[in-house]
Amino acid sequence: MRRTKRRSRLCRDVTCQTSGSRQFPPGQRISATVRRSQLLTTECSTIPAIPEIFVCYWRNTDGHARFANQSAFARWFADDALLSGDVGVWVEAFRIPMTRFETLFSTQCPAGAARLTDNPMTGPIDEHGYWGGMRDRIPASDRDELSSALDSAPSIADQTETRGRRLVLAVPENLCLIRSAQDWSACQGDERDSYLRDVHPMLRKGMTFLMENPAETGCLTCRFIEQLTDDGGTADKTFGMAYFLDMSKLEAWSKNHPTHLAIFDSFLSLAQRLGNEITLRLWHEVAVLPPDGTRLEYVNCDRRTGLLPFLGLNRRSGYGA
Ligand code: HEM
Repeated sequence: MRRTKRRSRLCRDVTCQTSGSRQFPPGQRISATVRRSQLLTTECSTIPAIPEIFVCYWRNTDGHARFANQSAFARWFADDALLSGDVGVWVEAFRIPMTRFETLFSTQCPAGAARLTDNPMTGPIDEHGYWGGMRDRIPASDRDELSSALDSAPSIADQTETRGRRLVLAVPENLCLIRSAQDWSACQGDERDSYLRDVHPMLRKGMTFLMENPAETGCLTCRFIEQLTDDGGTADKTFGMAYFLDMSKLEAWSKNHPTHLAIFDSFLSLAQRLGNEITLRLWHEVAVLPPDGTRLEYVNCDRRTGLLPFLGLNRRSGYGA
């Protein structure tokens, strides 16, 4: 496994924003306005509608602040016309200090935040291949347990009306975000068949389990997302994006739960059989979110959207404030 350098000369913080909607209006293409944006994705979730999701990264907070305050997207998102109608829209934006971040790749192909650095990948690295490797790759864990003040997932909020409202959530410290990605676009023949037959269904089960069991796992929300090409075709790429109460909850699920162990075992069988011939690309990135610099804003959303069912409300204020 390889990872990008912990400390880049160009990058102290990275800002990540996921934006979702059941339906972005025609012409509202974030990818056209933001360099380095990820491709359009669709989400499989427990909510009946299938939303579109963008995941975008900025090298620094200033770049994101300009986007959040001055872009066509910002003007559209601030418009109270969004409060009526069938469409719910959300933004989850984070400033991620590099000291609270790690990313790991099975190949030399960078993706996600790693595309922002000009530094080459380092590796193979020592801090992998054992449970606890993720924690060891996060520099801030040297001196801090990075724990949540909350013991368990907050119970699902009451029946507060969420449609027709613009809601900003209060963010608990050390919320842990993982984006774990799978790319089988280069796989052919037996490898492709085996991945789709043996590994992918286990992954889908694991993601469904996390979506359905927040109290048991401490996973507040999990989205299993299929990545699309620019023209809307399938890219043969997926990723799970999940928020855990803190890193210890994510560690517990990955190390102990049969659903991750089944994913892990099915992949190891494939990897052992194919050896160096394997072309499946796996990568993940994990961020432990600091108390400041996170913004969770939901406009006219179903109450089951994202972190909305779990977290209390913050003050109402504009996006980018
Ligand atoms: C096809 C999909 C997946 C495969 C093949 C897979 C396989 C693996 C493997 C081989 C490792 C050990 C990595 C190392 O340190 O060398 C690992 C670790 C891990 N996986 Fe997965 N995984 C998959 C999906 C996921 C998903 C979707 C999540 C979470 C949403 C996840 C969470 C984790 C975490 C947190 C670790 C690190 C645990 C630690 O170091 O303590 N995995 N996985």
